[in-house]
Amino acid sequence: MKVLREIDQVNTLISEWKKNGYTIGFVPTMGYLHEGHIRLIEEAKKENDKVILSIFVNPLQFGEGEDLDTYPRDEDRDRNAAEENGVDLVFLPTPGTMYPQPLSVLMTVTSRTNVLCGKSRPGHFDGVVTVLTKLFNITRPDNVYFGMKDAQQVAVVDALIKDYNIPVHLIPVPTVREQDGLAKSSRNVRLSDEERKEAPAIQESLQYGRKLVKEGQKSKELIIEATEKFLEQKTRGKIDYIELLSYPELESIENIDRPVILAAAVFYDHVRLIDNVVFNHDGHVIYG
Ligand code: PAJ
Repeated sequence: MKVLREIDQVNTLISEWKKNGYTIGFVPTMGYLHEGHIRLIEEAKKENDKVILSIFVNPLQFGEGEDLDTYPRDEDRDRNAAEENGVDLVFLPTPGTMYPQPLSVLMTVTSRTNVLCGKSRPGHFDGVVTVLTKLFNITRPDNVYFGMKDAQQVAVVDALIKDYNIPVHLIPVPTVREQDGLAKSSRNVRLSDEERKEAPAIQESLQYGRKLVKEGQKSKELIIEATEKFLEQKTRGKIDYIELLSYPELESIENIDRPVILAAAVFYDHVRLIDNVVFNHDGHVIYG
């Protein structure tokens, strides 16, 4: 496994791979790898000759007061996990390598963004599409792998790729969960014992909301209300939002007549957790 920090070095290696006709799968991450990230690597391994993993805590996608400085990091452990899982190249740039000077051309996400996490994290998805555009150009992948845990990110990247004709296939991968249903996240280490016990209620409440649709409920308002009530009773975390939108367009709808996302974000003392379920008009799970 190669570990490279400089863009020139990556260019040289990718050119060699391209010359040999190898297909390239790319898994962008911010590190502190867990089984969710590993699942993306496994999928990439299955479908490509070479797999690139990037580890970069992207300052551009963190807002003021967010956890950029305290975001968990463990480069040695990540390198071992990458090696064990057959990654061919780990790209580990510094902020100075990715952003040597202020950008002269800025990217702004205009749809799929003023809802869910985009609403409470202004500028976040601008930072995500900026870093991903740079990473796609640096790694020149055939396929890129994203987790449905961040379903809005998948929807925004889908728009980025289509809007800018980026020659890459987006592969969404279902959320990997703990045994009790909590979505795996690098940030889960920040939950207190008590909060950790309560946090699976987030997914439970979303499944409860989905079940109502399966039983015939079509009203967005009633589903959100019921989901919120269910969650409030099961956790002392503060609900940031519960939303139900069309997916992947993330548009407001009154009745469930197409694929939708039911998503929640909850503040605990030291961490904000998100989760979602994507399902059809009849409540049938597309991504859980
Ligand atoms: P990060 O939070 O490290 O996540 C990297 C990838 O792992 C994302 O596609 C995310 O959806 C996926 N992932 C995280 N937890 C998962 C889980 N439990 N199951 C399945 N997939 C999971 O997302 C980012 O980094 C950044 O925004 C990035 C895309 C790297 C741009 O900076």
